Amino acid sequence: MRISVIGTGYLGATHAACLAEMGHEVIGLDVDPLKIESLAVGELPFYEPDLEELIARHVASGRLRFTTSYEEVGPWADVHFIAVGTPQRGGEGAADTSFVEAAISSLARTITRDALIVGKSTVPVGTARRLQDILTREQDPTLEIGLAWNPEFLREGFAVKDTLAPDRIVLGVDADHHAETLTAVYAATVEQDVPVLVTDFETAELIKQAANAFLATKVSFINALSELTEAAGGDIRVLAEGLGLDPRIGRSFLRAGLGFGGGCLPKDVRALQARASELGQERSMRFLSDVEDVNLRRRERAVFLATSMLGELRSKRIAALGAAFKPNSDDVRDSPALDVAVRLFNAGADVAVYDPKANDNAARRFPRLHYVESLDEAVAEADLILVLTEWEEFARLTPRALGSVTTARKIVDARNVLSVREWIAEGWDFAALGRKYEPAFDFSPIGA
Ligand code: UDX
Repeated sequence: MRISVIGTGYLGATHAACLAEMGHEVIGLDVDPLKIESLAVGELPFYEPDLEELIARHVASGRLRFTTSYEEVGPWADVHFIAVGTPQRGGEGAADTSFVEAAISSLARTITRDALIVGKSTVPVGTARRLQDILTREQDPTLEIGLAWNPEFLREGFAVKDTLAPDRIVLGVDADHHAETLTAVYAATVEQDVPVLVTDFETAELIKQAANAFLATKVSFINALSELTEAAGGDIRVLAEGLGLDPRIGRSFLRAGLGFGGGCLPKDVRALQARASELGQERSMRFLSDVEDVNLRRRERAVFLATSMLGELRSKRIAALGAAFKPNSDDVRDSPALDVAVRLFNAGADVAVYDPKANDNAARRFPRLHYVESLDEAVAEADLILVLTEWEEFARLTPRALGSVTTARKIVDARNVLSVREWIAEGWDFAALGRKYEPAFDFSPIGA
């Protein structure tokens, strides 16, 4: 099939490359000419394992091209996927769907044959039906142009794998033959026995936002329990295991630490609350505001521990290990790690940030922090070390190895990846989120 993908950001670039891998002819379209220039020569403007190689392979095979022109894709494709962003509207929790609307209007103006438009972007419930009205108003009335909603559940760091082998395919349609067209698009995947759920627009839209809100709730649930183990004692990691081994609960998304961030979970939690309010159902999603509160309190706790361990932040050097919102990503959107580094800097500390992939993105956002090229450089002059993103490189740290490159003997494990006992045995002042903090040395807590 001939397929266009509108929007070649994180989601669209992955989707376009994976559709080419499934055997389709694909054109990726973006209004940003710089993005298109780099993709056209097989270069990825962000970090994602396996994706650059896949794009380069299919650009070379001729199955994948890139353009900035709707006039090129409108008359050409059988199916048009919309994968543009739906960012948070300035100052509000609600999602801004104007890029999706603009894409629909541009397609309506340029499509000259029967075709199917498929939304992949995460949108508030009710958007697809509204877009269908725009489409009907603006399209050539002699053509049959359908609309479907097909949310995407890929995770950063696993984008290619999740797209080629998803755990479900959700198709929101208003006509059976649109579901058939999409099943044909995903034939290579459907053959692997992936469950396909065919439903209406509203359910499809809600499944996506509900999934992210549920995942965020799970993370905040275990992090709320962290507050209890910090006060009462106990090991949050073992507690999570004890919960997760119940198959009705499940083990995933119960890793306690600095909380959730990134381009999806925080935004979707806010957007779902905002949409519920618009629908007069504010109470139904009210608990999500607690989910957000717990999430932010983890950052405050990390800052509190740092302050307690140092006694005073001014003129102290802190090594912030990690800036990305999670490992295997260079994404710093809504990153808890970067937020903690900035809070410490604002409180007067000299913060040296090291992230294996996200330094450049972090420096664009917060140029005043001090960015260094290696872990050794970050910790060399440090008074305190904070593990803020659970990169493998940090999870492998041992007190002896680290002790040979720094004189610091204070560390906060904000991601629960280090062994408490080992560090304390080697004489380090060690604190972890979710563990009761027992200081190794005398100190005077600040702001307790
Ligand atoms: C998420 C959804 O998983 C994905 O289905 C959706 O399409 C986009 O949003 P992503 O943002 O890539 O994907 O990150 P994910 O791996 O889901 O992690 C989200 C956040 O939760 C991260 O900040 C992560 O550090 C945090 N997290 C996750 C925890 O703090 N504890 C956990 O146990 C799991």
